[in-house]
Amino acid sequence: MQCDYFDAGLCRSCTLLDRPYPVQVAEKEARVRDLLGERHAPSAWLPTLTGPESGFRNKAKMVVGGTIDEPTLGILDGRGQGVDLRGCGLHTSGIQEALPTLAAFVTRARLLPYDVPRRRGEAKYVHVTESPSGELMVRFVLRSEQALPRLRSELPWLLEALPRVAVVSVNLLPEHKAVLEGTDEIVLTDRETLTMHLGGVDLELRPQSFFQTNTAIAAGLYAQAAEWVDAIDPATVWDLYCGVGGFALHVARPGAGRSSRHAHREVVGIETSEEAVASARGSARRAGLEHVRFAADDATRFATSASTSAEPGSPGTGTAPPELVIVNPPRRGIGATLAGWLEGSGVEHVVYSSCNPVTLASDLDAMPSFDVVAARVFDMFPQTPHLEAMALLRRR
Ligand SMILES: C[S@@+](CC[C@H](N)C(=O)[O-])C[C@H]1O[C@@H](n2cnc3c(N)ncnc32)[C@H](O)[C@@H]1O
Repeated sequence: MQCDYFDAGLCRSCTLLDRPYPVQVAEKEARVRDLLGERHAPSAWLPTLTGPESGFRNKAKMVVGGTIDEPTLGILDGRGQGVDLRGCGLHTSGIQEALPTLAAFVTRARLLPYDVPRRRGEAKYVHVTESPSGELMVRFVLRSEQALPRLRSELPWLLEALPRVAVVSVNLLPEHKAVLEGTDEIVLTDRETLTMHLGGVDLELRPQSFFQTNTAIAAGLYAQAAEWVDAIDPATVWDLYCGVGGFALHVARPGAGRSSRHAHREVVGIETSEEAVASARGSARRAGLEHVRFAADDATRFATSASTSAEPGSPGTGTAPPELVIVNPPRRGIGATLAGWLEGSGVEHVVYSSCNPVTLASDLDAMPSFDVVAARVFDMFPQTPHLEAMALLRRR
């Protein structure tokens, strides 16, 4: 991928940009193999799933800089001044097309860009997410509600200029700190969710919920998990760190691709974000999936408080350990307590999807009773060293 910003030294975020794409992929595979080592070598390495090497990011998180009349949407340089990256080639084409109109909106609504060195101004970030059908969710991260009336009064202009915008919200971040959003969200449109349709499943995404960065690779990830789960055919599954329910909803219908012993599959999704849980419940309801439930809880707390006296997968107990657990934690991994609980539980299979192979390997070290049956790298983040790796574990 060629990038003018990179060539001009304006942005160095894509640290692998000067490596040919096949070399990037080979290096990522080698890194995961190396970290898993002999002790966790899978019986089968599946070929890495790759997608487009540009135009794949479904979410842009742009810092607002510059002035009201000439705003920049991009990053800040070393002096805290805005660098405009609206043409960043990692973003989907729909996001790239929308960014100039969003910059014009900053000017129309007189949103003063936040000046980090002087701690003055209102507009901190613009976040844009594009759904597979081309709809957009736009979030303005502001320091306060001061500019809200102007933003509301210019909103009809924005919705006319960008008819694909389905959801607009304001997120409030009053503190001067290096985070991308605050906790308070004010939705300005009738629609509150963006529908992410993948693999035959509609995932409803609310403004503050996590979604996998690369839609094509996310679809492959969920399809792979569903294939493994269907081959094992468990009656009961937990999806820990479930977000808006991507894994849970993809594995909820037993035997989508093959025959199953079960009329339905009991699935429980656990996630700390109440907003993501609300989205997941809405998606399950709309899909008519009555045997899938979601709860807002800490994954470790939920698992460790499950009844270990009940047989794994015993129907109707609700809190008995399931036959199969899916985990997809943040970069820090599942940690010693949850890994230790899985090790000592009666759970037969684990599907571990990880965005950090270092913590994947250390978590596997804490689960010596499991063999890695199969593993696969998913190139979710081309041009950067980041990757997703998923492993199917079976109790020995
Ligand atoms: C890598 S994301 C995975 C989301 C989801 N599986 C998906 O495919 O979109 C990790 C998720 O874990 C959630 N999370 C973070 N800490 C958690 C915890 N202690 N217990 C449960 N969920 C947690 C985050 O809110 C986030 O949604």
